[in-house]
Amino acid sequence: MMYSKKYPKSLIFIHWLTFILLLVIYYIGLTLEAYEFNEANMNRYRLHALLGVSVLILTLIRIFIRRKNFESLPPPINYYSNLHKLLVISVHYLLYIFLIFAPLIGFIMVYQTGALSYDLGGPFPTNAEFDHFLAEIHEFSVFTLLALIVIHITGVIIYKLKTDKSILDRMLP
Ligand code: HEM
Ligand code: HEM
Repeated sequence: MMYSKKYPKSLIFIHWLTFILLLVIYYIGLTLEAYEFNEANMNRYRLHALLGVSVLILTLIRIFIRRKNFESLPPPINYYSNLHKLLVISVHYLLYIFLIFAPLIGFIMVYQTGALSYDLGGPFPTNAEFDHFLAEIHEFSVFTLLALIVIHITGVIIYKLKTDKSILDRMLP
């Protein structure tokens, strides 16, 4: 198996683009609470939704590229223990799952109001309201994603402190 020193450029690009997009989407998401979901505020919701769906699409492309380039990814890091290995692999899997799940629930939430037909030229639905349960799941999945990102970044920093080796280079162009 031929290991590379770095992740493929495309994966590095998507990794950092996703990071920037999430900062913007998260910020817009928090501001949405002050704006009712109606025709006048639709552009604000639209921007959040479009950027959110691009994270979903980028993640699917990322998983595809990763699978295709599996043979030439950087070697696994030096795990401190089996527990560490399990934690790193689980966090990576969960990150991918929630990068898909969070926007998917957001999409279903908007779809369920009938507002998508408005984008296709139809009228804005009267009394459009988000399903409370779906809104709760969207919020839960976003905060789970945040927690995973914090664990992920902490892990990268601890690795540097413990081994004096930076794995950040592998994810930098
Ligand atoms: C939105 C925030 C972030 C998300 C969703 C995210 C997600 C991920 C995922 C899923 C991987 C696994 C790549 C693979 O499949 O092998 C990864 C790798 C990596 N990430 Fe992040 N990341 C984020 C932010 C950051 C930040 C801020 C840093 C810098 C401290 C960072 C540093 C790294 C490094 C160094 C790797 C490579 C680890 C290795 O070689 O095993 N990430 N990231
Ligand atoms: C990874 C991508 C996404 C992130 C990080 C994100 C983040 C957020 C945050 C932080 C909020 C405010 C807290 C809350 O009530 O949940 C929010 C609300 C919302 N998001 Fe997202 N979102 C994402 C994707 C999407 C997508 C793709 C859609 C629709 C297509 C969407 C639709 C909404 C809506 C309609 C609200 C308002 C909920 C309400 O008022 O109860 N989100 N989002």
